[in-house]
Amino acid sequence: MKNKQWILKKFPVGEISEGDLVLEENEVPSLSDSQILIRNIYLSLDPANRGWMSGQKSYVDAMQTGDTMRGGTIGIIEESKNEKFKKGEIVNCMGGWQQYCVSDGKGVRQIPQGTGFPLDCYMSILGMTGLTAYFGLLDITDPQPGETLVVSAAAGAVGSIVCQIGKIKGCRVIGIAGSDAKCKWLVDELGIDSAINYKSENLRQKLKETCPDGIDIYFENVAGPILEAILPMMNVHGRIPLCGMISWYNAGRLGADALFDTLSLPKMWRTILVKRLSINGFIISDHWKQFPNFLNEVEPLVNEGLINYIEDITQGLENAPQQFIGMLDGKNHGKTIIQLF
Ligand SMILES: NC(=O)c1ccc[n+]([C@@H]2O[C@H](COP(=O)([O-])OP(=O)(O)OC[C@H]3O[C@@H](n4cnc5c(N)ncnc54)[C@H](OP(=O)(O)O)[C@@H]3O)[C@@H](O)[C@H]2O)c1
Repeated sequence: MKNKQWILKKFPVGEISEGDLVLEENEVPSLSDSQILIRNIYLSLDPANRGWMSGQKSYVDAMQTGDTMRGGTIGIIEESKNEKFKKGEIVNCMGGWQQYCVSDGKGVRQIPQGTGFPLDCYMSILGMTGLTAYFGLLDITDPQPGETLVVSAAAGAVGSIVCQIGKIKGCRVIGIAGSDAKCKWLVDELGIDSAINYKSENLRQKLKETCPDGIDIYFENVAGPILEAILPMMNVHGRIPLCGMISWYNAGRLGADALFDTLSLPKMWRTILVKRLSINGFIISDHWKQFPNFLNEVEPLVNEGLINYIEDITQGLENAPQQFIGMLDGKNHGKTIIQLF
């Protein structure tokens, strides 16, 4: 059986360019004992994938050139030689940018069936994305009614859910996004209090206007100039869940020293002390044990229409790189997904 796979041929320098990833067709290997064969149905495109292409170890091992591009998937088990998994089960794992994957079952999670939710939801609101928003905001910051919450990449997959959970918890929510259309959607459809287009508006000025009492919680997705504008506005005992830093991802291959030179961390250090800020980096794969609690709480909210989710689904594995590049550039609206079959 043939398997189309995107192979990492070169570590991108700066933005991903043609030839960094190449689509190949290879044989699906036959199964050994305790292995399973999964046909990937959905592929999740995540900003973190760009970091994995940098050749540098992070919270996961670095990818090497020649590897199949790594990525989260939902798929169906086509064949099983592992007693923990049955043919026909729907599972979530790091199945990669390919049609089929062979796994020993490690890190493979069964997806609940017969819940009434479409399968793609388990890749967005009811999957890793939703859990990231839920854990990052609630467990790390314990938001209180009346507090001011600012969210960057607010119209994206994680950010849009953070905004809505923030509203449910009674916060004043200010979103930062990269277009007028995204800002309008955030206010009109998601009901947040205000949105700032960081590409066309004076961010510092708009933050002063929209956050007259300062910022209690900043949900950090982007770093860079947005972080620098936010930090002086943080209130004493402010909390910052450090979820991501997308504005720096394309710089990853420049090397840690070059990257460090671009930071103003020493200047920020004093602010962190005098404002007594709590800044918590987190990686959601450390918190899968929260998943059942998360589903119990969030499924009813989605069912009742209290949380909206939006997905940016494109058909065809061959379109994965262009959609990924587009997502890093803000062309997505909501969770970026590739449907393979
Ligand atoms: N810690 C974890 O375990 C974890 C898990 C999942 C995701 N994350 C992080 O969460 C963040 C959001 O991920 P996501 O999957 O929800 O992606 P997303 O927000 O759906 O897509 C990324 C968005 O980032 C914005 N962006 C790109 N470059 C930017 C820049 N220079 N400055 C400001 N905004 C920029 C773009 O929106 P605009 O149009 O608004 O520019 C783009 O749509 C990422 O940093 C990701 O790494 C972390």
